[in-house]
Amino acid sequence: MVKRTRFQAIIAMMCALALVPSNAFGWSVEAHQAIALIATNRLQPATAKRIASLLGQLSLVDIAVCPDQVRELEANEIKTLSPACATIFPDPPKGTEQWHFVNTPVKDAKFTPAASDVTTACKNVCAVIQIPRFLAVLAASKTTDTGAAKIADQQALSFVVHFIGDIHQPLHSADRNGDAGGNAEHVTFFGSDDSNELVLHHIWDDQIVAKVQKTYTALAGSLTAQIAAAAAEPKSQPMDWALQAYLPARDVAYQGIPAANGKTDVANLGQAYQDAAAPIVKLQVARAGVRLADALNTAFAAPVNSRAK
Ligand code: ADE
Ligand code: ZN
Ligand code: ZN
Repeated sequence: MVKRTRFQAIIAMMCALALVPSNAFGWSVEAHQAIALIATNRLQPATAKRIASLLGQLSLVDIAVCPDQVRELEANEIKTLSPACATIFPDPPKGTEQWHFVNTPVKDAKFTPAASDVTTACKNVCAVIQIPRFLAVLAASKTTDTGAAKIADQQALSFVVHFIGDIHQPLHSADRNGDAGGNAEHVTFFGSDDSNELVLHHIWDDQIVAKVQKTYTALAGSLTAQIAAAAAEPKSQPMDWALQAYLPARDVAYQGIPAANGKTDVANLGQAYQDAAAPIVKLQVARAGVRLADALNTAFAAPVNSRAK
């Protein structure tokens, strides 16, 4: 009896673990949610109202990581979407993996790409084109949308929140020798290699952020200076964001990291690397939040008479 109970507990725990998203495909949950929170605090009242009527009980924070769950569901990494994401994605789309990044090549330590290099890397599917595609859906949306049209609007909003975040993660805007933005680079971080599963990409998605702040509210709350700096920058577009995020990938993320070597740890990263990376991560999260708010304010500011009331 005791044995059986323990067995059941283990099975229950394994099921629970299977439901936890692996976060392997974008900033951490906390970074995406901090970006959504920073943006929420900068929405114009009319935009906030429009989003509230589109999302009902849900917030931008609640829908920030749904696109990762959609991708993970297709890849069989999770079994179900969270309840919030399941309302927005009742019939999750497939083939969205390439939408989360743009693999602009780091050809060498000095290579500075032009827009044409990003366009070539984009292959018409990457984050740089998904962001304006879904912003256009929002700009054309109507408060009277119901059924499938309303779900399409909700999904567009979730994709915009998520991909504006992703494109600001330096290793979502760069790739070196086909290493999938550092996914093929095995490393140790503060002495841990997580049973040789830790890769450079995850250091930037998760570990650096987690050392900056533990929760999304603390992270957003700690970025006042970076948000002010980001808000003072000239207005820019997704192509500019991709070109800008590439530079710290080249100059910091890949700096001193030898080429991938199978499953061998190619570098031991610690405090010096964290100290170089943390200011970049903080500024990139702040920029993403500020730019997301601007994009939503613009998309929902379409002339009132072009929309049904
Ligand atoms: N898969 C392939 N390239 C990638 C990148 N740059 N970021 C995240 N996932 C990827
Ligand atoms: Zn990622
Ligand atoms: Zn993602």
